[in-house]
Amino acid sequence: MLITNKLTKRYDNGYIAVNKLSIHVFKGDVYGFLGPNGAGKTTTIRMITGLLDQTSGEVQVDGMEVGKHVEEIRRKIGVLPESHGYYLWMSGREYLHFFANMYGVPKNQIRGRVDELLERVGLAQKSNERIQHYSRGMKQRLGLAKAIVHSPRLIILDEPTLGLDPQGQRDIQIIIKELNEQLGVTIFITSHLLREIDELCNRVAIVKNGKILEEGWLSELKDKYRESGEMMSLEHIFLELTGKEEGVS
Ligand SMILES: Nc1ncnc2c1ncn2[C@@H]1O[C@H](COP(=O)(O)OP(=O)(O)O)[C@@H](O)[C@H]1O
Ligand SMILES: [Mg+2]
Repeated sequence: MLITNKLTKRYDNGYIAVNKLSIHVFKGDVYGFLGPNGAGKTTTIRMITGLLDQTSGEVQVDGMEVGKHVEEIRRKIGVLPESHGYYLWMSGREYLHFFANMYGVPKNQIRGRVDELLERVGLAQKSNERIQHYSRGMKQRLGLAKAIVHSPRLIILDEPTLGLDPQGQRDIQIIIKELNEQLGVTIFITSHLLREIDELCNRVAIVKNGKILEEGWLSELKDKYRESGEMMSLEHIFLELTGKEEGVS
């Protein structure tokens, strides 16, 4: 569904934010893309979604090279970016209506589609309130609804639960699980909540300084890092792997 091959980004100032990164996301995966701040996660996502040109390497979505098929790929992917603006004066319903229209949902289906989305993210009761009165959790759920307005097969979520309280985190987690299990949508997610990722994901990549430290099945990762026979949590493995500093103590 999503492959990167030696994907590299060197910014204009010479900094290499993503360094020969190769990952494989299969259809139906919930794929956790993990790494400390500054690891290059958002940069990678911007290249996958065609917002940023890579310096070298390739990205393929559903067998098509990003960059050569920008429009087709946009239709296949739904994105919840790291930071995004909302039209605060609109209601949640108006907001989704606007994007359904923009993404070419047929006019006679928009109303039904918007109702379905509001229901899915638990905003049906609040659909006519202005977004400026929404809590952060409600805004993130609306963002998630917007990301799936055109029924994409792959959704990319950049820290969807950042800044949410435990209930808000739980809500998002449940919606993601339902999208994957009920609709078969492939999910690519970054998050610092490792317990959340541990529960949600079947495959993961752990990155640091733009490089892959580990990539693959979560169950195999856990097998590999057993400590005297005991299975460790993903959180434990992550800290173990990313805590090792090169030349810094
Ligand atoms: N436009 C830019 N120019 C130069 N360096 C950048 C730019 N954007 C991000 N970086 C740097 O690239 C690294 C990776 O950033 P980012 O992809 O946002 O990481 P993450 O999302 O994993 O926290 C950071 O060190 C960041 O400072
Ligand atoms: Mg980021």
